[in-house]
Order: sequence, then C-alpha cells, then structure tokens
Amino acid sequence: MPTGLDLLNLTPIQNTSGTPRLLKATLTAAPARTEFIPGVSTDILAYNGITPGPLIDIVEGDTVQILFVNNLSQESTIHWHGLPIPPSQDGLPMDPVPPGASKLYQFTLPPGSAATYWYHPHPHLFSAEQVFRGCAGMFIVRDPKNPIPAAIEERNIFITDLKLDSNSAIPQDSDDDVLNGREGNHLLVNGRENPKLSIRPGTSQRWRIVNATNTRYLRLSLTGHVLTWIGTDGGLFRTPVPKGEILVAPAERIEVVVTANQPPGTVATLFALPYDRKKFGPTAGPSAQIPVLTLAYTQDAAVPTTPLPSVMRPIVKFGTPVDRKQVFFQAQAAANGGLTFLVNGKVFDPTRVDLRSFANTLEEWEVTNLAGLDHPFHIHQGQFQIVSITEGNGKTSPPEFLTLKDTFVIRAGQTIRFRMIFPRRGKNVFHCHILEHETTTMMGVHEII
Ligand code: C2O
Ligand code: CU
Ligand code: CU
Repeated sequence: MPTGLDLLNLTPIQNTSGTPRLLKATLTAAPARTEFIPGVSTDILAYNGITPGPLIDIVEGDTVQILFVNNLSQESTIHWHGLPIPPSQDGLPMDPVPPGASKLYQFTLPPGSAATYWYHPHPHLFSAEQVFRGCAGMFIVRDPKNPIPAAIEERNIFITDLKLDSNSAIPQDSDDDVLNGREGNHLLVNGRENPKLSIRPGTSQRWRIVNATNTRYLRLSLTGHVLTWIGTDGGLFRTPVPKGEILVAPAERIEVVVTANQPPGTVATLFALPYDRKKFGPTAGPSAQIPVLTLAYTQDAAVPTTPLPSVMRPIVKFGTPVDRKQVFFQAQAAANGGLTFLVNGKVFDPTRVDLRSFANTLEEWEVTNLAGLDHPFHIHQGQFQIVSITEGNGKTSPPEFLTLKDTFVIRAGQTIRFRMIFPRRGKNVFHCHILEHETTTMMGVHEII
C-alpha cells in the first residue's frame, strides 16, 4: 500500500435541507469497492460508497434527520457513539433495521455537547464485521463560542485498521481475532496509510483524533514535539495539558494542539508506540511500533505562534451519588478452547434488562475487569466522570484531572468508578468496545425509567 501521500480531507455529508441548522441527509450502507492499493480493487462495506463514511460536522442546537438505508445482506443500525440523544434514535441492537429496509434517525444536539464523536453500525452479532469492512464515520459537534483561537486550523484524523490478505481481500475474523480482538496489517488515517500532513512553521493545528479501530490501542507520540492535550470524548478540558504521549483506546477520541516550533523543512512522525494489552495465546506480547502519520513542515518563514487560552471552559464536578451500580467483566472457558467474555455472569441478550436506573439521578458505577486483557468500557447516553481507579493490588488513585468520557480502558484486574446522570428514558446498552467482544457476548442492557 502506498504511504506518504497527502492526508485526505474527509468527504462532508450532503445536506439537502437548504438550511444549515437542519441536517437532512441519507446514509446508505451497502457493499462497495475501493482501491487501497492502486489498480487493485477490494470489496468493502461502506456508507454512501466511501470509507471512512461521510463527515458530519454540525453545531450545538442543530437538528439531524438522517435516513438510514440498509442495503447490506445483514441487519444493521447506525449508532451515534457518545451523543446525548434519545435511546430510540441511538441505533441500538434492540432496534435493528433489516436488509432492504430503512429508518429515519432524528435528534437535536443540546448545548454543551460540542465534541468529537463518530458513528458506526451496532446490530446484534454483526457490528465488528460491518466496522472492519469499512462502515464508520466522524461526527463533530461544534460550540458556537469556540474558545480555541480561529488562527489554529483544524485537522481531522480518523484512524481505522485494515486487514488485507495476500489477495488484497478483507478476510473473516480468525479465532485469535475473536479471542483478543481483531488487529489489521494497515493502520489508516482518513483511508490512507501513514499519510503526510503539512504544517507551516510557527502555526498550531488542532487535531481531532478518533480511534475507529476494532481493537488497536494507540499510544500516540509525535517525535520532537509535545502534544498539548485539550480534550477527549466529551469535549474540551478546563485547561490544556502538555503530554509526551497519550493512550487512545478503541472508540476513544482525543483533541490535541500541535505547534510547529521547529525550523522549516522539519519532518516528524506520529507513532503508535508499543503497548502490551495482555493478549492471550500465541500473539501475546506488546504491539509493534507503527507510524500513523508524517508531519512535514513547509519551507515558509515562521509566523508568530498563537497561544491557547489557559482556561478553555468550566467543567462542573459531580457531587455525591444517590444510587450505585456494579459491573464485572468476566471470562469463562469456551467449548472451542477460547474464552467467552461475560458481563455480570451472562452473555448479551437483547431481550433481557440487566440494570435499571432512575432518570435524572446521579449514580456511581463500579466496573471491575476480571477478564484478563484490557477491555475498553463504553456506555451510551453521554459522558461520565471518572472518580477513581483501583489497581489489582488494591492501590486506589484519583484520575489525573477532570474529564468527560464515554469510553475508558480498564486494564486486567483494575476497578474504575465513575459518576453519571441519565436524563433520557428508555433502553440503553453498555459494553466492551473491542468490537469482537461486543459483537459476541460482552454487553448488557441498561434501562432508564
Ligand atoms: Cu461505539 Cu455501543 O458503541
Ligand atoms: Cu456508543
Ligand atoms: Cu473486551
């Protein structure tokens, strides 16, 4: 596969409403073909024929009316990962759209929801496959009063993981993929492998990074540069945090500001550094170091650098919870010699309710990972605040700083505690976001009453 080509911009979705505050569009999931390798066609599954799917880029307060047409041969849905919207519009496995059918998803983005999100299929039994074959796209919600100076240009970095066999076809999951989660052999940014992103000396860029891989843990680091971490799943932090590296687990998002403070012509590499997520079996051990993209300074003279505000926005910390929930991720030997991953002792059943919450009640959830491996915990219906992380040896620490999250990696043996309020009634799900685990068993139904 060619590398070093220019970073592509994501293709914006076509709005047919004639007004910017209403997004009216169609997303059709269907078999398609693309040339990852020039001159060689690969069968994919895609939204509107392209992978990644169309970019949705709207403002808080906007209304979305998207007609989803399912031209796949399997049930599907579109799930709007992380968005605070009614469960009935959230594309749950309990609301499948059969092959050949369609559904209109409608919602309005509330104030305070500005952040980087993504959308992907979420049917029972087929999510992992539909995503690894190409169905996923980026979803940005903007703050009309964006605190980041306009001189700091934005770049979208949507990372997917492609596995190609020797015929340039996308193979089925292997037993190891099902057990440990699938990892590909080409990490793509906006559909290209290790593309080139240009930057003018002196300028800063705001990178919105989405980990849309089924299972890759991306420990991101940019050679010769600090990553100024400004936001995550639920949007901006209170203050920017300088970092040498940031771990982005599957389904997590980060926003960073990169400042070109080196001479014209400098070349730097954004790497995914080796990471050991404690896999089982013959593929155990840390991942290899992978170049994600190449940052190339232009030869232009440096312009003066634009500083970031020291406070980007207030975040109100949740108080004392009035209700509690407890979740265990567990593993049990399976008949095929692998493992079955369980949530509170059970495999996923879309017809059962596993946990119930009262609407508008502050809850504290405690989630313990007894299932080996790192598992990224994800819950729908918006953002939570991590309160503490307990290691397998009992040592408990608070999070480094206050953030809003919808996905959080739980390492083997760890327990995390988070607080969350569920304002919208209906059935909801929570699960591991290693999509092979979510697809098979590792999900629970959560009803908000
Ligand atoms: Cu991104 Cu329930 O999923
Ligand atoms: Cu989700
Ligand atoms: Cu998992």
